[in-house]
Amino acid sequence: MVSSRFLLCLLPLVGVVIATADFELAKDGFVHYIKTGEKPPPVSYKIPHVFREDMEKAYDNDEICTLCAAVFTAVVDERLHGMTKEQLVETVQYICLALEIENERVCHGAISLNADILIYIVDNYPDIKPERLCGSVLQSFGCPTGDGFEWTIDIATGNAAERPELNDDSTGSFNILQLSDIHYDPYYKVNGVADCGEPICCQEDQGEATAEQAACGYWTDYAMADAPWYLVEETVRQTNTQDFDYVYYTGDIISHRVWQTTVENNTETIAKLYTFFKESYDVPVFPIFGNHEPHPLNVWPDDEQLQDESLSVKWLFKLAAEQWSDLIGQDVTETVLKGGYYSASPRPGFRVIGVNGNLCYTDNWWLIYDDVDPFQQLQWLADTLKLAEEAKESVHILTHVPTGSGSCLSVWSREYRRIIERFATTITGQFNGHTHRDEFHVYYNSSAPTQAIGVAYNGASVTPYSNSNPSYKIYSIDDTVFTLLDYEEWTFNLTLANSRPTTETPEWFKLYSFVEAYGVNNLQASEVDKVLYKMAEDHSLLDDYFRFKFRDGDAGIQGGCDEACQREILCDVAKAQFGDYTQCNYFTELYGEGK
Ligand SMILES: *[C@@H]1O[C@H](CO)[C@@H](O)[C@H](O)[C@H]1NC(C)=O
Ligand SMILES: *[C@@H]1O[C@H](CO)[C@@H](O)[C@H](O)[C@H]1NC(C)=O
Ligand SMILES: *[C@@H]1O[C@H](CO)[C@@H](O)[C@H](O)[C@H]1NC(C)=O
Ligand SMILES: [Zn+2]
Ligand SMILES: [Zn+2]
Repeated sequence: MVSSRFLLCLLPLVGVVIATADFELAKDGFVHYIKTGEKPPPVSYKIPHVFREDMEKAYDNDEICTLCAAVFTAVVDERLHGMTKEQLVETVQYICLALEIENERVCHGAISLNADILIYIVDNYPDIKPERLCGSVLQSFGCPTGDGFEWTIDIATGNAAERPELNDDSTGSFNILQLSDIHYDPYYKVNGVADCGEPICCQEDQGEATAEQAACGYWTDYAMADAPWYLVEETVRQTNTQDFDYVYYTGDIISHRVWQTTVENNTETIAKLYTFFKESYDVPVFPIFGNHEPHPLNVWPDDEQLQDESLSVKWLFKLAAEQWSDLIGQDVTETVLKGGYYSASPRPGFRVIGVNGNLCYTDNWWLIYDDVDPFQQLQWLADTLKLAEEAKESVHILTHVPTGSGSCLSVWSREYRRIIERFATTITGQFNGHTHRDEFHVYYNSSAPTQAIGVAYNGASVTPYSNSNPSYKIYSIDDTVFTLLDYEEWTFNLTLANSRPTTETPEWFKLYSFVEAYGVNNLQASEVDKVLYKMAEDHSLLDDYFRFKFRDGDAGIQGGCDEACQREILCDVAKAQFGDYTQCNYFTELYGEGK
């Protein structure tokens, strides 16, 4: 989830709206400091937590882009003139603290973890332009991209294949469990400090809440908190009271204590969860990576260009290669070692493709070094789908980061959508995680903008981070064409669970089924398209969607969803490629005529 965004600010460093004079003063002061080591007088404005969840909306984008470029240019220049790693860390940390982006240990930890990467990139790409960094990492701020970030992959010509229709009187189906974003926290502290000021609260080393402070609940907390192990166990226990043939785990295992990861500790946590899945589920489990699995988080260097072993992410691919084949029940070693992706067919006519969608995440700032189809994954995806089409298979795609979001690199998002369009009939389901919200996004045909051709469903999250009730989804799948018939979302009321004796298990309940809530026949794109028209007309459906996003989490829904919020939701569900607002505009216009 976006909370980790504060990490990237450590290099770009951002500006604020305020008065232009203040902004210029700060920018010039920091540049002077980078060049001379002379600290500027204290800056009069602060941008606390600017890169946390949705914070970018409050700031002036042009200033942010300008400051990013100025600071990056100065840092690169100094590095080329001999700035040491220690000086670089100290400099960037000073600016991080001066702007109150995070506190000392968080600024320092995050910068230290990322410094070697910056140094590697600058040393090996000395004429790098600031647009490379600011245009990608700050894509959601609309910073200019300059040259580059433009490539295409080869997709087999032709139209999407003719496929058998979902038969209305087909009765055969099976279930799939989707779990997402557990974010297991080994340091969760019951009665810890809920409003801690750091990117993750309820930590052992943040002390005990005083009488005046909000205290972290037993099961977990609506605060910026993750999942204690017993919540993971409880969730898995609960899911096992239901029937399913497969499990999809759509990524993010590590907690939001992002400034203090190590390879050893990530390895231990990741292995612990996979082992627990293996012990708990007697059906195949299909995992994919989340952006939190690497050390430091978000970054995926392609070893083919990398001269420095210590920065490599190979350790993670090796770990997954060992564990995933076992969980899936098929050998997926080769492609997992290559780039953390795979293809497996659990029954005739049906294929599951695990995509490492974190490669498009703009916080993966190796993209500034080389953004061209990292790990050749999209080319592999197009080729693999072509084979599936020829074999008349139906395919489910799992990928962590939703492709329509501002934090999926534009060119990657566009090429992914080209693939989705070309193989629209072969792909019968897409599954995301990452946002921790229960949501979906509809893909429309770029040549026929009112034709819906695909839907990506988000598994929401087990972690409450933040303001949500823990949840999971159970999909029913047609067993001949493998389209999605319906899903149920299961959750429990965290306020209620935390108010009861800790010996009592939470009261899980079915929050809704998609077909019941939205009054359609199934989850195919053409049916979900009808839901968007209904939402534009009947705004109470947008209120429902809003509640579902947080799974009725008290802290999430308390403010309700006003008109601006409803329009944002409608726009969001109609958007699956970053930068393409065609359907967003279309439906929000219809919204104006609805009630
Ligand atoms: C790694 O895990 C060990 C054992 O839980 C813990 O003592 C240590 O503090 C962790 N290291 C970091 C950097 O968090
Ligand atoms: C998208 O629209 C074009 C133009 O109408 C059509 O040729 C193509 O088959 C459509 N794609 C799908 C997946 O239906
Ligand atoms: C959750 O439970 C609490 C405590 O019983 C209750 O006050 C609250 O209204 C419940 N939330 C919802 C959304 O039902
Ligand atoms: Zn997550
Ligand atoms: Zn994520």
